[in-house]
Amino acid sequence: MGRVRAVVVGAGGIAGAWFPPLLKEDVEIAAVVDLNREAARRRVEEYAPSAEATTDLSTALASHAPDFVVDLTVPEAHCEVTCTALEAGCHVIGEKPMASRMDEARQMVRASERTGKLYMVSQSRRWNPAHEQVRRVVAEGALGTVTTVNCDFYIGAHFGGFRDEMPSPLILDMAIHHFDLARYMTGEDATHVYAREFAPAGSWYRGDAAASCVFEMTHGVVFTYRGSWCAEGCHTSWNGDWRIVGERGTVVYERDQEPRGQVVAGDEGFHRPLQDLRVPEPRLQYDGMHGALREMLEFLRGGAVPQTECHDNIRSLAMVFGAIESSRRAERVPIEE
Ligand SMILES: NC(=O)c1ccc[n+]([C@@H]2O[C@H](COP(=O)([O-])OP(=O)(O)OC[C@H]3O[C@@H](n4cnc5c(N)ncnc54)[C@H](O)[C@@H]3O)[C@@H](O)[C@H]2O)c1
Repeated sequence: MGRVRAVVVGAGGIAGAWFPPLLKEDVEIAAVVDLNREAARRRVEEYAPSAEATTDLSTALASHAPDFVVDLTVPEAHCEVTCTALEAGCHVIGEKPMASRMDEARQMVRASERTGKLYMVSQSRRWNPAHEQVRRVVAEGALGTVTTVNCDFYIGAHFGGFRDEMPSPLILDMAIHHFDLARYMTGEDATHVYAREFAPAGSWYRGDAAASCVFEMTHGVVFTYRGSWCAEGCHTSWNGDWRIVGERGTVVYERDQEPRGQVVAGDEGFHRPLQDLRVPEPRLQYDGMHGALREMLEFLRGGAVPQTECHDNIRSLAMVFGAIESSRRAERVPIEE
């Protein structure tokens, strides 16, 4: 396969994180599309001077026939942009969250099936070396059977822009990362959730920027998530602070420090004797969006289907909408298939 060609849609904040890996991988950027032509023009000037800057997606797809489209628009636009690209015969890599409604996400999965084109979500935090280390600790059985997963996320983030207006900014725009990581680290899927979203006093968001959620996962795992995007002081990591407990030990991953843990080393005593957990060496070479992009490029060259292909990623999105529904009904609810 020769040089791969892409059209980038959405030239806002996150586009600044996508152009460097696209250029590093020698992807030809044929066009940058944004409803705001000036935003598209600025990104073209900055990163891809020979690309077209336009507001017209369909015409750009028809005239440049890209191999894939990078959808970096706001969540409400993902369904329309991604379906337009799939129907035009392009593969798509899109920003999280997959969609702002579950019915839209299902429509996107159906469009991928109907057109036979790949749609993957860049759930970028999967491609973090420490997260992959935690995943291997669990998968290699060092903790025994996993029973309990906790994640805390507390950050005071003053964004301005679309997040300030969303009904569920924390759950839909941020916790999607943590919910997906819980699936990634444990290999389990959520079956039910009880959640309470809320707006803490003093919140600067229009919607609920805090939540507490208890997920029941397959094989009896309980995943408890506590988070807030309007918590001033003593911030956790953006990746969240994690504790995973198994029958024989615990791994802790906090403040982006190396994961660490302890496992049982004997059968006697009030506290059983413990030894340090052996955490495997990091092995991911490409971080964040670059890691996601590499999986798309490998797929285009005949490689494996990326791990966050839409049929997988919709299960993380279902946790988001399950939590929102549970909070709305004040009831434990099943997570949609
Ligand atoms: N992976 C991460 O860590 C991460 C971090 C930040 C943002 N994001 C995600 O990236 C996406 C974009 O976020 P952002 O911060 O860049 O937002 P932004 O508001 O800065 O930029 C979005 C851009 O999309 C354009 N746009 C909206 N609808 C469009 C349409 N139909 N066609 C063409 N252009 C359209 C807007 O004009 C704007 O320029 C969101 O889904 C967000 O959740 C991911």
